[in-house]
Amino acid sequence: MSSQGRAFDSNCMTLTRFVLAEQKKHPEATGDLTQLLTALQTAVKVVSCAVRKAGITQLFGTVGETNVQGEEVKKLDVLANDLFINMLKSSFTTCALVSEENETIIEVETEKRGKYIVAFDPLDGSSNIDCLVSIGSIFAIFRKDDNSPPSLKDALQPGNKVVAAGYALYGSATMMVLSVGGGVNGFMLDPSIGEFILSDRDMKIPNKGKIYSINEGYAYDWDDAVKEYVESKKNPASGKPYGARYVGSMVADVHRTIKYGGIFLYPATAASPKGKLRLLYECIPMAYLITKAGGLASNGNIPILDIQPENIHQRSPIFLGSKQDVEDVLAVIKKHTK
Ligand code: AHM
Ligand code: MG
Repeated sequence: MSSQGRAFDSNCMTLTRFVLAEQKKHPEATGDLTQLLTALQTAVKVVSCAVRKAGITQLFGTVGETNVQGEEVKKLDVLANDLFINMLKSSFTTCALVSEENETIIEVETEKRGKYIVAFDPLDGSSNIDCLVSIGSIFAIFRKDDNSPPSLKDALQPGNKVVAAGYALYGSATMMVLSVGGGVNGFMLDPSIGEFILSDRDMKIPNKGKIYSINEGYAYDWDDAVKEYVESKKNPASGKPYGARYVGSMVADVHRTIKYGGIFLYPATAASPKGKLRLLYECIPMAYLITKAGGLASNGNIPILDIQPENIHQRSPIFLGSKQDVEDVLAVIKKHTK
């Protein structure tokens, strides 16, 4: 075969093919989850394309409104949110959606309803949009167990009920990382064919890393345990100090943490006693993936996946990453809470 011929893989493992193969392992599966994930893929591909062309198509900047969190809404945020909602509703597989951008749950029209509930942040890391730093989308999929009309209660499920979760990273390349209950797999978008291709099979997070990731600008406001832990990474009693990396886009910081190991922290501060990151569509999906990849994710007290959400936009402190690193921070927290 010529070297040119070899550039094309006639048997490439696309995300759709991978999900279909997973579905076939479960003879009872209806194909709805596959259909839902196909709809999500479409939304992600269009967001990726819009992100790449944002400047040219005048999608940078704000629409002059604030969202339910009181933050400025960017044009790309609105586009991404509309895409997620439209693609998910028209997949005929969902009955209720939770979006960072919508104050209340979104009920899917009766004739389009299916059994899944999706919580998502359509475009995370919005403060990084205009300066071309990586941004992402995050989602968690839950099942509704009965045929009653969807309600708020159905959306308030803990992480240990997640059916599938993932994120899309719009970085130097676009990548989707997904788990449908088994391992964690990464798929790189090949823009020339518009398909996600399996590139990172069965991702496993190193047991211990060399990087800590936290917004140190809030150090004055951390509690003593976080101060002590971060200090121990910078000035260890023995061994080399950890390196610091903080993108300020959770998807990018978590992706690096899965790939290289280490720890990502968004703790509570005196000003934000519950932290900043949202439980349902930021913390839970990331905790699910990190846990499936062999790491840990905690709120400092209990695993993120064990928290029972009480409202859809609730926040939680989060400590996630390599098993050993998270255990170390939890030991420091425990010492301080005695
Ligand atoms: P957003 O949903 O408004 O984009 O905020 C979430 C982002 C996360 O991606 C990131 O981890 C965090 O906010 C950064 O916050 P800070 O600027 O306080 O460090
Ligand atoms: Mg967000």
